[in-house]
Amino acid sequence: MNPVRNRARAGAPKGPTGRAISNGVKLGTPLKPSATKILLLGSGELGREVAIEAMRLGVEVVACDRYENAPAMQIAHRSYAFNMREGKNIRKVVEKEKPDFIVPEIEAIATDTLVQLEKEGWTVIPRAIATRLTMDRQGIRQLAAEKLKLPTSPYRFAGSLTELKRGASAVGFPCFIKPTMSSSGHGQSMAKKPQDLAKAWDFAMKGGRGKTGKVIVEGKINFDYEITLLTVRHVGGTSFCAPVGHIQIDGDYRESWQPHPMTKQALKKAQNIAKKVTGALGGRGIFGVELFIKGDKVWFSEVSPRPHDTGMVTMVSQTMSEMELHVRAILGLPIPEIPCRPGASVAILANIKTNNPAYMGVDKALKIPGTWIRLFGKPSSPGHRRMGVALAIGKTVADARKKAMAAAKAVKVVST
Ligand SMILES: Nc1ncnc2c1ncn2[C@@H]1O[C@H](COP(=O)(O)OP(=O)(O)OP(=O)(O)O)[C@@H](O)[C@H]1O
Ligand SMILES: [Mg+2]
Repeated sequence: MNPVRNRARAGAPKGPTGRAISNGVKLGTPLKPSATKILLLGSGELGREVAIEAMRLGVEVVACDRYENAPAMQIAHRSYAFNMREGKNIRKVVEKEKPDFIVPEIEAIATDTLVQLEKEGWTVIPRAIATRLTMDRQGIRQLAAEKLKLPTSPYRFAGSLTELKRGASAVGFPCFIKPTMSSSGHGQSMAKKPQDLAKAWDFAMKGGRGKTGKVIVEGKINFDYEITLLTVRHVGGTSFCAPVGHIQIDGDYRESWQPHPMTKQALKKAQNIAKKVTGALGGRGIFGVELFIKGDKVWFSEVSPRPHDTGMVTMVSQTMSEMELHVRAILGLPIPEIPCRPGASVAILANIKTNNPAYMGVDKALKIPGTWIRLFGKPSSPGHRRMGVALAIGKTVADARKKAMAAAKAVKVVST
């Protein structure tokens, strides 16, 4: 039986004990009183893979999102559709389901409620404070740059156009303007000159998610390349995946590959930064640490305390995907080593509005050896949406990228 949930059920004080108990890790059986239960807050494509990996270990999965039939919901044992920015909704489901682990998959959730639930003894992955700090660019930037003294782009925060103008002249042009609460490039733009700032301010105010009324303005880093350093905090310590290189367009990931070649010195610096920032956030699980690199210089950009979209490549390039690593870390299972081979991923995007998506060309794509297509099963597209991913392995990263690109191009999203 599960010590955490038994205590939770009895109403006695609960402690975030995790699952590593002195006699070893005990896993239950789904839909039985012994079940080990994960509550996924966010049921997108990354959540779906987390659910699959959890189920492979006999974990019971409850999936939540703002809409019905989200990707992870389609395979979960149970699901709930509700607005996850409303704390009382999250609390209701947690108290009903009594999960062993609350696993956020997206940023836009009521993180204050997670902090409160953690205080009451529920286990939030990796830790409630990590989800709160990283959902807000101000929280994570101040932690990284001011507390941990990690190198970052020059930055200012601004609550009005006047403050933005002052901030931009301090960090210099060109600069990036981003709502303090946003992801996937929403509300983000680059200003080349002072005259661009009014438009950037309006764009940020419209595109931001939390309506903080605030932006961060960052000086542009002229990096040679950018990487995601997938970093996993687990029962045995901290492990790093090989660097994932990627290309972003309008702040949205299009293509990623692994391993991205780095100098020894740059890799060491990147790992040091990742270790520090994930250490400060704490808890167990996988983190996507986003870094900019020029020669041997490394800048911290931001971090996700959960699987990262650019890390989808690990579904084929690593023996354990980032989602499997997340699940192992959550459950207190060992992660001895993380072997990697050259691989690549390319997003499959819908550029049409549809409530009945269908796909042509998967047969053509899969003729290419060493190639896979994953379709996420999203029920609709508002006009632009990531609907799937093409994955490939190759003799080299260049070879894998070429194959993944050809496979992605072969697949067309249509409306029937
Ligand atoms: N200061 C900067 N200098 C140079 N490039 C930048 C800077 N800030 C952002 N970018 C570019 O824009 C991309 C998206 O920025 P960022 O990661 O901050 O936004 P995001 O909305 O959180 O995106 P995502 O959710 O996809 O990670 C970066 O990966 C990088 O390519
Ligand atoms: Mg980013």
